[in-house]
This record gives sequence, structure tokens and C-alpha cells, in this order.
Amino acid sequence: MPVLEGKELRIVAFLCNWCSYGGADTAGVARATQPTDLRIIRVPCSGRIDPLFILRALVNGADGVLVSGCHPNDCHYSAGNFFARRRLEVLKRFLPVLGIDDRRFEYTWVSASEGARWQQVVTNFTDRIHKLGPAPRLENAEPLLQVADMALQPLRPLGTGQNARLDELKAAIKKHFQDKDLDVVIGWQQADDEAHTVPLFMRSEEDVDKLVWGPFNVNNPATYLNQLIGRDQPQDKLKKVGIVCKGCDSRSVVELLQENLIPRENVVIFALPCEGTFDMARVNQELGRYGKIDSVSFDGQAATIVADGKEHRIAIADCAQGKCYNCAMPLAQHADEAFGEAPAIAGSPATPPELAMLDKMSLEQRFSFWKGQMDRCIRCYACRNACPMCVCKDYCIAETRDPHFITQENTVREKLYFQCIHAMHLAGRCTGCGECQRACPVGIPILALRQQIARAVAELFDGYQSGMDPEANPPLLGYEVEEKNIKQREL
Ligand code: FES
Repeated sequence: MPVLEGKELRIVAFLCNWCSYGGADTAGVARATQPTDLRIIRVPCSGRIDPLFILRALVNGADGVLVSGCHPNDCHYSAGNFFARRRLEVLKRFLPVLGIDDRRFEYTWVSASEGARWQQVVTNFTDRIHKLGPAPRLENAEPLLQVADMALQPLRPLGTGQNARLDELKAAIKKHFQDKDLDVVIGWQQADDEAHTVPLFMRSEEDVDKLVWGPFNVNNPATYLNQLIGRDQPQDKLKKVGIVCKGCDSRSVVELLQENLIPRENVVIFALPCEGTFDMARVNQELGRYGKIDSVSFDGQAATIVADGKEHRIAIADCAQGKCYNCAMPLAQHADEAFGEAPAIAGSPATPPELAMLDKMSLEQRFSFWKGQMDRCIRCYACRNACPMCVCKDYCIAETRDPHFITQENTVREKLYFQCIHAMHLAGRCTGCGECQRACPVGIPILALRQQIARAVAELFDGYQSGMDPEANPPLLGYEVEEKNIKQREL
């Protein structure tokens, strides 16, 4: 087989010590001719390979990354390569949303005795990377700023939710406090003005009167559950917590239950039918510059906000969060106490607007898009802190020095890598609540990265959606010996 001609490219290869590394050795001993572009990293098992290693290499400018482990059923740790296969396949489908050609990454299986196969794999992969040419560099990309088209058709009528049975809910919560079977209930209260809410922690009947319900209830209260009743808390002193949920919030609660991060017996879910919540960035755009909100009043479809004496009627259908147009779960699922019925849903959810915008772009445009967006990131970690599924918090690898996964450099590359870390850690777990994007002070549409992974997970695992069934096993925590939707690609 001829050695490839031309300039060497940078290809990183992660090889399992027990099989593929031996296979490369066998090829070497047999003096099989091979391209010299590969930089080999030996790992104990393909199951040891975190997809973030691959992303690190690609974001840092590797032209290609190859992973090779033991053949299925031959893993020396019995199932490491089965777990790896699912993760690596999700990663392969994630790369294009970043603007990285997925052909630059491949995984395969080579045993220690297959020197000839190793020679073929490495030659074919190197050949493929040479045909693709050097990988585009973030430093060289032209920043592209584009916003998603939010003119969407909701799956059911959106409204201001003012007919919700809030009084009945308040009475029910008060009854729990009288019976002393709940320590705290999380909900929303008015913030500094009527057009904003903040989380409310009700600990007494007086607190319950502060509870509000409407399109300004944008936060996801499930974010606080891990701090109150998570695994890190003293388990013998766990509180009994109630949570008032919108439908989307309830998926986060269910996912926390699914992952056994909170005990079911310590949480009581209260539900009211949600009619949509405002995208506050769009509301602020409608209001323009203002000093003070004077008053807010509601009708069925809109909120009338008087700011600095000027009246603005803002319809929820025009300024809802992207997720609300696609919402097929207006009432919290697995609720212990529900007040009201969920409206009928017409049709099935469309592609989320942020993802639809990226779908229309070429790989180069997506790469430029993320360059432009990450240039604006101030690395405040609000996206992570608002995420109900980001439960590591103080031990987050974005800040730890051991292992030193990421530097504190204020560069596009490091900021994009941080977003990749967040997205990959949410693979098969993100419930699409959009808190990351909502909390972002500069409005970067980072939810699109999580949406792409959720789409890949649904394609690969029979439409799996996280946070729907407390008994379901998250797909990336398991494997099948014969995967239905993951087929071996020959190299
Ligand atoms: Fe080789 Fe697990 S030991 S893939």
C-alpha cells in the first residue's frame, strides 16, 4: 500500500492498550507501510475515552481523530467498548452543529492480531483526512451573527394563564403547612416590579400568599431541588419539598428522579396548566429603554405593561420563549396534585427555532456562527448555574485544576470548549427547559447545542426523550450488544 504523499496533517488516535495498540504494534513488527500523520495516545480501554478528549483535539486544531478499541464482545473490561460506542456515535452526530465535518472523526475496532487491518484502517482514515484537507481554524473564521426566526405556530393556544386555579393551589399548599408534612415549597413571587418574577421559597402560610402564576414565571424551580434534597445533603435530615411546576419544569424533576439524584418520597409536585411564558429578552426589546415599570395588567392573550407612563400591549403569542411554541406538555407530568386540565395539542413539535437556523447553514457558516457567538461570551457560567441537570456545581470540571480540562483563557476556543463540555455532560439528560439560554446575559443561543444532542439521542434510541419516565434508563448509562440504530462503518 503506498504511503500517502504530501504534507503531514495532524491526526490524533486514541488506541485501547489491549487490542488496537497491539494491532498497531503487530503492523509495525511486520514492517507494514503506514502514513506517519498519526499521533497515538494509548488508553486502558475505549470505555476510558471521554468524548471531550476528542472535542478537545478537534477544537484545538487537530485535522482528524481516530478511536480504536477491541472488537465488540472482546473488551478486556467486558463492556467498555459497548458504552463507548453509544457515546462516540452521539458525538459524531453532534460535531456538525459546531461546524466540524463529522468525517474528521471515526471510531473502529482492531484486535492485537490484526496488523493488516490496522494498516488498512490508518491508511484509509489518513487518506480521508488528506482529501478533506487541513481543518478550519477558529482563529481564521469570520464571525457570523444571525438570529433565529421566532415567527412560530404554537401547538396549542398560548395565553396569560390568568384563569388558572391559583387560589385552590394556594389553599392546598397551606393545608400541607398546617399538617406539617412539607418543609418548603418552591414557586415564583413578584420581583422588584410586576413584570418580573424571582423564585419563592415558601416556608409558612404567609409566604404562600406571595405565590404568583403567569407568563412571567420564567425560571425553572427544579434547579433548586438538588441543593435541597440532593445526594450531597445529609440523607437523614432531608427536607420534604414541594415544587410548583410548569410542564417543562416537571421534566427536569422527573430526570432528577430517573438518575436517582433526589428521593421521590421527599418531593411533592404541584401542577397548574401553563399557557406559555415570555421570552424576557423579546419583551425588553418591545419595551425599549425604560426607567420604571408602573403597572402590569392582563387579558387572555396579552400583558399590558406601563413603563415610564407609556403603555405596551405584549401578546404572549408574539413574545413567548422558543420552547413554548413547541410545548406538548402544558401540565406537569407525574404531578401529585394537579389543578386543571392540559389543553389539547395539535400536531407534533417542529424543529426548535435555534436549531432550524443552524440546519440551514453550511458547515463553514456554523463554524463562523459559533466563533461570533463565543466571542461575546463573558464566561460567567450563568448557563451552568441555571441548569437543573448540572448537579456537580462546586466540582465542575470547567473550574477544577485536577484534572485540568480547560484553562481560564478568555479565548473563543476555550469558551466553545466549555459549551461543548456542558452540552456533552447533558447528553441524554437535557430536558430542553432552556434555562441555560434564558440565563445567558448576552443572549447566546446555546440551547441549540443541547437540542442537537437531544435530536441525536432520539434518532439513535427509538425517540428517547429525557425526563419523561422516572423508571426509564438514560441511554448513555447502558448499552445493547447489538445496537439497533448504530451500524459499524468500515474503514
Ligand atoms: Fe479494549 Fe475495552 S479493553 S476496548
